[in-house]
Amino acid sequence: MAVSLREPILQWYAEHNRDLPWRRPDATPWGILVSEIMLQQTPVSRVLPIWTDWMARWPAPEALAEASPGEAVRHWGRLGYPRRALNLHACARAITAEHGGRVPATYDDLRALPGIGDYTAAAVASFAYGGSHAVLDTNVRRVLARAVRGEEHPPKTTTAAERRLAESLIPPVGAPRWAVSIMELGALVCTARAPRCERCPVVSQCAWRSAGRPAGPVRRGQTYAGTDRQCRGRLLAVLRDAPGPVPKKALDVVWADHVQRERALDGLLDDGLAEVLPDGTYRLPA
Ligand code: ADE
Repeated sequence: MAVSLREPILQWYAEHNRDLPWRRPDATPWGILVSEIMLQQTPVSRVLPIWTDWMARWPAPEALAEASPGEAVRHWGRLGYPRRALNLHACARAITAEHGGRVPATYDDLRALPGIGDYTAAAVASFAYGGSHAVLDTNVRRVLARAVRGEEHPPKTTTAAERRLAESLIPPVGAPRWAVSIMELGALVCTARAPRCERCPVVSQCAWRSAGRPAGPVRRGQTYAGTDRQCRGRLLAVLRDAPGPVPKKALDVVWADHVQRERALDGLLDDGLAEVLPDGTYRLPA
C-alpha cells in the first residue's frame, strides 16, 4: 500500500530537511510565492541570493507593483527563464489591484493570477496557508514513479493516474508537511541521475529498486550552448547591465550569427522583455 510510504518519508524529512528561508515560520505568503516561481527548473543554490535580494527590495506585492517590469527583469539577474520575472511583476500588480495587496489563500484565486499554474497554486495554498492539495512537482512525480509504478522517470506531463495517486497519499492532517517531505526526498535522495538509494527511507518498498532499477527511455538533457535561449540570455544581459537604453550595435557584438540574433531579439520584444525606442535604441521594459 502506497500510504505506507508516508511515515518513513515524514520521519526522514524531520531529520534531513534543509533550512531554507521560505520554509521558516516567519516566511510570508509573498515570500513563498516568489520562491516557488524562482525554484521552477532552478536549483536552490542559485535562487537563494536572488530571493534574498528581492525580499529586501520588494518585501510585499505593493512594492513590486510600483516598480517597472524592467526592474523585475533587471533584478532577476541570471536566474534564467526571465519571463518568470514579468509574471511575478504582473502577479504583484494583480494582487495589489484585486486582492488588497494580500496574496490570495485559495487554490482557485491563486490559479487565476498571471503565470500561476497548477503546481504553484497548490504549493502556495499548502505552504503559505496550510491547505490540503496534491503538490506535484517533478521531484514528487519522480519519487512516486519509482516507488509505486516501478519506473525510472514520470510521464512527460502529469497524468490523471499520477494525480489520483498523489491525492490518495495526502494525510488527513499535516498535508503541507507531507508535500514538502516527499519533495525534499526527490530533491536530495531520489534524484533524476545517480539516486542515493542507500540513503532512502523507503528503499525496501520501492518498486523500481526491487525490479533492479530498470533504465527508462533515455531522456535528452536540455542543451543550452548555441540555442536561441542562450542568445536571448546574452542580449538580455546587455540590457540588464546598462544604466539606460543601448544602441543596436551593443547587442550585435554579443552573438555572431545574425539570423539567430535577430530571431532572439524579436522574441525578447514579443515577450515584453525588451523594448525598442523611436531612436532605434533598446532597453528593458519601462
Ligand atoms: N520548499 C518548498 N517548495 C520548494 C521547492 N519548490 N523547492 C525546494 N524547496 C522547497
